[in-house]
Amino acid sequence: MGALLSNLRNTVIIGFLLAIALIVAFYLKQSGGGAFDIRAALHEGALRWLHVLSGIMWIGLLYYFNFVQIPTMPSIPDELKPAVGKFIAPKALFWFRWAAMATLATGILVAWSRGYLLSAYTLGATENFAVAGHTFIGIGMWLATIMWFNVWFVIWPNQKIALGLVEAAAEAKPKAARLAMLFSRTNTMLSVPMLAAMSMSQTMFG
Ligand code: HEM
Repeated sequence: MGALLSNLRNTVIIGFLLAIALIVAFYLKQSGGGAFDIRAALHEGALRWLHVLSGIMWIGLLYYFNFVQIPTMPSIPDELKPAVGKFIAPKALFWFRWAAMATLATGILVAWSRGYLLSAYTLGATENFAVAGHTFIGIGMWLATIMWFNVWFVIWPNQKIALGLVEAAAEAKPKAARLAMLFSRTNTMLSVPMLAAMSMSQTMFG
């Protein structure tokens, strides 16, 4: 087991196999009674699962930046700072931006599979605001989509300058780092109402 767990790829594969075993076991147990809809499980259920997995990867790294890396940087001795900037941050930013992309894609697919993609993204306008649940999840989807935009079009381009991954004048670096930090803070703030909409939608509106 130790050998398996020391390899990250194998660890993730085992996690997925355990999840699939869980789904299959409950399918076999429940399918006779008809209480388990395998089509729904494979479509909406699996999409939700992948959506929450990628969302955790994205927001987990957002919180790592805001609660751990950014506040700790000033107290790291100057000679050790490049280790963070050159090795840890680029890797974290890779998973951060692609997890944001996967979360957006799976979120759109969940909304589409539930049949309310357009009404949610128009905040219920296409149905004369008759379905409050669609407006509610639509607000969450817009908050998350704005956060995704910030990641790809503000945070990542400015982090590339701040970390020296692209050519830029020396005086541009602190400005880019501050802008990336402020938008990262904005996303941390927006993540709270965004997650309220995501996670309460089912409970409040079914
Ligand atoms: C990027 C754009 C996003 C879109 C378009 C989107 C879309 C959706 C949709 C349509 C649902 C189903 C709501 C329902 O009818 O119950 C949902 C649920 C959910 N989303 Fe998102 N989402 C996004 C981002 C995020 C992020 C960043 C997270 C962070 C973890 C997240 C976490 C969740 C959770 C936990 C649920 C509840 C799953 C459940 O109750 O089964 N979403 N999302």
